[in-house]
Amino acid sequence: MNSNPQSIILEAKNISVNFGKFRALQNVSAKFDTGSLTAIIGPNGAGKSTFFNVLSGAFSPTQGEIIYEGSNITGKQPFEFPRLGISKSFQITNVFKHLTVHENVRVAAQMEFARFNFFRNAQTYQDPIDSANQLLEEVLLKKLSHKKAGDLAHGQQRALEIAMALACNPKLLLLDEPTAGMSPEETVVMMDLIRKIASERTVILVEHKMKLIMGLCKRIIVLHHGEFLAEGSPDEIQNNAEVRRVYLGQG
Ligand SMILES: Nc1ncnc2c1ncn2[C@@H]1O[C@H](COP(=O)(O)OP(=O)(O)O)[C@@H](O)[C@H]1O
Ligand SMILES: [Mg+2]
Repeated sequence: MNSNPQSIILEAKNISVNFGKFRALQNVSAKFDTGSLTAIIGPNGAGKSTFFNVLSGAFSPTQGEIIYEGSNITGKQPFEFPRLGISKSFQITNVFKHLTVHENVRVAAQMEFARFNFFRNAQTYQDPIDSANQLLEEVLLKKLSHKKAGDLAHGQQRALEIAMALACNPKLLLLDEPTAGMSPEETVVMMDLIRKIASERTVILVEHKMKLIMGLCKRIIVLHHGEFLAEGSPDEIQNNAEVRRVYLGQG
């Protein structure tokens, strides 16, 4: 555990979320280190996406606080999160299917470009076309720039979404099950991409399949039935009896 507060980019404090009478998250706390990849795992229905939605600003928790770079951002509107530097890609694919690959990323980059700020030198803004080219290169879709996004394979659409999420140049990127519905081959490509992206960014990755993240991150948080179950290194988590039990129980 890191004791230097500067190195914590995001902290969730005692987060609870109710859907009507159902409590999907109960008193979950977690800290996320700047510059590293942290994985959140757990069986289906554990509350991972609910936690993800709270951390990424899609909705506010019923109780608890979200502290980002030392400030309390609980209750901020979803559109304020990208401005703060928090960007996300959901569990469900979310691209503009009728636009080309390049147009999709350009639209996302233009939002950053349009965010004109008097205190920032205009020259520090990158042209949206250049940004889109660079990002498509990074996610290995440059060659498909002029294809309609809807014509891409599922795995490629997910990579495109990640390029879109990166277009606002976030300080923190959140990904919810980026390999959901992928073939084994697509999964390998996506995990390589995440490893590359995370090498120079702060990433929080929600993943259902424990095996996938074992070689990828230093720290794992485990949720179960809406509660915090465990936290530790991949080795610690793999050897944690409680974690093994809940995963085995799932079959
Ligand atoms: N909008 C909602 N309304 C009611 N129940 C929900 C809603 N979203 C999620 N849930 C319930 O909350 C629990 C946790 O869901 P979720 O966070 O999606 O889990 P995970 O992503 O770990 O599979 C599940 O029992 C789910 O059915
Ligand atoms: Mg989920």
